[in-house]
Amino acid sequence: MPQRTGRAPVNRPLPPLVMRAKRDAAAAGFGRSCRDEVGRLLATLAGTAGAGPVGELGSGYGVGTAWLRTGLAPGARLVTVDRDPAAAAATGALFAGDPAVTVLVDDWRAAAGHGPYRLLFCDGGGKQGGPDAVTGLVAPGGVVVLDDFTASSGWPPTFGGEVDRLRVSWLTDERFLATEVGTGPGVVAIVATRR
Ligand SMILES: C[S@@+](CC[C@H](N)C(=O)[O-])C[C@H]1O[C@@H](n2cnc3c(N)ncnc32)[C@H](O)[C@@H]1O
Repeated sequence: MPQRTGRAPVNRPLPPLVMRAKRDAAAAGFGRSCRDEVGRLLATLAGTAGAGPVGELGSGYGVGTAWLRTGLAPGARLVTVDRDPAAAAATGALFAGDPAVTVLVDDWRAAAGHGPYRLLFCDGGGKQGGPDAVTGLVAPGGVVVLDDFTASSGWPPTFGGEVDRLRVSWLTDERFLATEVGTGPGVVAIVATRR
């Protein structure tokens, strides 16, 4: 019987665009890009978002954006925002000449003017504000993804010995149906569908 490692295959080839973004991020010393497991989840969900739009709060160096772009349906729009000019410039360079992708250099709130989103990767500004901060950016039936939570088997989930209030707020909000998905050893993402 094959061993159960709790991991997705690590040697599965990456899309060329993602490889390029990861190289750019590494060259800039940026270590906060999403994991490959999260990226594959984003690409898969982007494929269900129809004409979109698809949004990302916190572009970083474009790794998450590249995964979202990989799954984007033909004709759909992808909007990503980062307040850090260097990060936004790197992401902008990656998608130069791609009419499907808009990169904003701004606070995350600027993304509201391009929504409401069918899929929203909430990965920078806005994340700490919980559902109250970003619900207005999400179309009915739209999906929000938040990554990088430490796995916790009990209820309520804890982090550092304290109740993880941010995670509880997403998992119990009446406006969403939400679950946690394992995205690597000891880490989970939240996937929340707006009712
Ligand atoms: C975790 S990184 C994003 C990684 C990226 N989504 C990826 O998967 O490769 C978070 C980003 O959010 C940006 N950020 C933080 N606060 C922000 C705000 N208020 N508005 C816009 N961007 C913000 C940071 O500059 C940083 O680049």
